[in-house]
Amino acid sequence: MRKIVFPAAGMGTRFLPATKATPKEMLTVVDKPMIQYGVEEALAAGLDDIIMITGRGKHAIEDHFDISAELEANLHASGKDELYREVSRVAQMATIAYIRQKVAKGLGHAVLCAEPWVGDEVFGVSLADELMISQVPVMRQLRQAHEKTGFSVVAMARVPKAEVSRYGIAQVEAEENGLYRLQGLVEKPAVEDAPSDLAMIGRYVFTPRLFDFLKQGEVGVGGELQLTDAMDALAKVEPVYGLVVEAERFDAGNPLGFLIANLSLGLRHPKYGKLFKDYIQTLDI
Ligand code: G1P
Repeated sequence: MRKIVFPAAGMGTRFLPATKATPKEMLTVVDKPMIQYGVEEALAAGLDDIIMITGRGKHAIEDHFDISAELEANLHASGKDELYREVSRVAQMATIAYIRQKVAKGLGHAVLCAEPWVGDEVFGVSLADELMISQVPVMRQLRQAHEKTGFSVVAMARVPKAEVSRYGIAQVEAEENGLYRLQGLVEKPAVEDAPSDLAMIGRYVFTPRLFDFLKQGEVGVGGELQLTDAMDALAKVEPVYGLVVEAERFDAGNPLGFLIANLSLGLRHPKYGKLFKDYIQTLDI
């Protein structure tokens, strides 16, 4: 397993007006764009065949992971070695293929756009606005669970009841070592309809059979082709597992979660952490 899909074609409506001309995936958490965290996590899990599903207005993502000859030459010539190394490291870290999702038909449709490139292989999916900080990269935890079970595995976390309607929520059978067999999944249920408090948190490993259900898929919640609905259908014909992953997680796809991610990662940043903390301690809060 080496392939991983980053759906990055969404319109970022929760973040307007910041995302009017800037892709949400390029918003900066401390000192790098959100999507770079996801790519680094994937690479650390051995998933180095990367495909991004993009759309109109997403060129900045391609430029970010590309060589910028002029910038690199400039930094090199002016002796800014640390910056030069960092900028060229980003450009060299991965080979990335880009597929355009021509119409915004939802997360399920974005993943389906990757089918010609994924073919008949097991593959990962990562949503860049969920930031995971962990000892063992979350994608590696999923990969290991897949190697053990042979089937699709989705990362889960328990969320407060009041938040279930922000996520895909799982209906589960008995748990074994943090691994649940999923009976069904429902996208953004009302609090009273949620089958549990186990939310999907934007990291997945799928068998290619998922594509069959994405192709048959009908428009679901919010008028979109939902990944969750295809997973629910998949879980009826072959095992789909949920793993409660060990990670600190930031749902940075909305302004409050984004602020929390910046605060928390800012405080522990090797270069800025101490100064940032000193500043915060001066605040009258
Ligand atoms: C998407 C998925 C949802 C999942 C969530 C994780 O929702 O549809 O199932 O729980 O990501 O962040 P979105 O945040 O795109 O509305």
